[in-house]
Amino acid sequence: LNIVHIAVEMAPIAKVGGLGDVLTSLSRAVQELNHNVNIILPKYDCLKFNHVEDLQYNRSYSWGGTEIKVWLGKVEGLSVYFLEPQNGMFWAGCIYGCRNDGERFGFFCHAALEFLHQTGYHPDIIHCHDWSSAPVAWLFKDHYVNYGLSKARIVFTIHNLEFGAQNISKAMAFSDKATTVSPTYAKEVAGNGAIAPHLYKFHGILNGIDPDIWDPYNDQFLPVHYTSENVVEGKRAAKEALQERLGLKKTDLPLVGIITRLTQQKGIHLIKHAIWRTLDRNGQVVLLGSAPDPRIQNDFVNLANQLHSTHGDRARLCLTYDEPLSHLIYAGSDFILVPSIFEPCGLTQLTAMRYGSIPVVRKTGGLYDTVFDVDHDKERARAQGVEPNGFSFEGADASGVDYALNRAISAWYDGRDWFNSLCKTVMEQDWSWNKPALDYMELYHSARK
Ligand code: ADP
Ligand code: GLC
Repeated sequence: LNIVHIAVEMAPIAKVGGLGDVLTSLSRAVQELNHNVNIILPKYDCLKFNHVEDLQYNRSYSWGGTEIKVWLGKVEGLSVYFLEPQNGMFWAGCIYGCRNDGERFGFFCHAALEFLHQTGYHPDIIHCHDWSSAPVAWLFKDHYVNYGLSKARIVFTIHNLEFGAQNISKAMAFSDKATTVSPTYAKEVAGNGAIAPHLYKFHGILNGIDPDIWDPYNDQFLPVHYTSENVVEGKRAAKEALQERLGLKKTDLPLVGIITRLTQQKGIHLIKHAIWRTLDRNGQVVLLGSAPDPRIQNDFVNLANQLHSTHGDRARLCLTYDEPLSHLIYAGSDFILVPSIFEPCGLTQLTAMRYGSIPVVRKTGGLYDTVFDVDHDKERARAQGVEPNGFSFEGADASGVDYALNRAISAWYDGRDWFNSLCKTVMEQDWSWNKPALDYMELYHSARK
């Protein structure tokens, strides 16, 4: 099939969160299955151009009262068309955060369809994502369905229902198929007004991670490369490098890592509580996160300063976005904590497992679908054909986090052999796109029937 993604994020060149990761990793997995995948993205001035190969001017066309320059390049082996409207709409120094984001992305969606139309490129599937490229669904039906593009079918994926309600609801109505990023989140949102009328075409397909992009055996940011065979040595070296880099005491204590956008979705009060609880239990804690909301960012800056003076040898909050550091934390921590209030899928728990870190999560959305508690989910895990792989809790309060975190830290202190074998087990689990990419192919084919 010929598949075109129209999207506003893509890892690693324009990544804000998991949507960017999914765009790249799903596309690579589908391309591996011998389908033709192209991506259309705005040409932001803040793109990480060092990750774009063979970038070349491709053509220009005129649309919406402006000239649009098109550039073609390769990102992680994928062909990407970059649209650059000469009115400077994407020269804002950021991906999101402009006053007129809705307008900018609406313009981009229409310009992308127009580009397909004018070049005579007729995909079988046009796949759009979240509120930002949702307009593709209705613009296509309004303006292009009677032209050459008519054989295309529109697939719309909801990565997060929290933003852009009106766009999401319209795209749900106008798309041929819709998905969200885990089966449990699909159930959780089934009653939502935007979704309920369209359940017949709505599917929960779990995200995966790209095992080549996230690979502890071939990771330039790690001091020692490792597989499940030498996980203990590999993680010990990564932990020491992490402690060294952040100025933490170089001692072997249970290390809890947290890698997250700091927003209410991610359970901010639970994160704070968990930091103190870990310190009470004589662990170390490293948080890597940044908050789009300046009040939350300030709050964490204060906490970081406080911890620096009271627990400087055991706690470090890095309040920034730092891709290389995230790799070292995945590898160097014993646990990755994800106490989300809601989580459509979540990728950090999957990446953690790939690096042999044990996930400690709240049972919601995709976290529920991918983490099986070693004490309580044996049967559910068996039914899914996986071994139990982490610690989880239900209540979104301090006692909930305590329940999972206490068991996790005790397990680390009480049984190192058992703990090490758990690290090996999680590393060997397959959370890649191997299966989900087939589910998407089936969906794409069914959209064309
Ligand atoms: P969301 O998309 O809701 O933020 P996901 O778990 O799906 O959550 O994806 C988050 C992605 O962003 C992961 O790849 C994670 O490693 C990365 N990430 C989050 N915060 C940071 C940060 N501060 N620095 C580097 N990477 C981060
Ligand atoms: C969203 C969700 C996250 C999901 C990601 C990729 O940002 O918050 O749970 O993993 O999209 O689909």
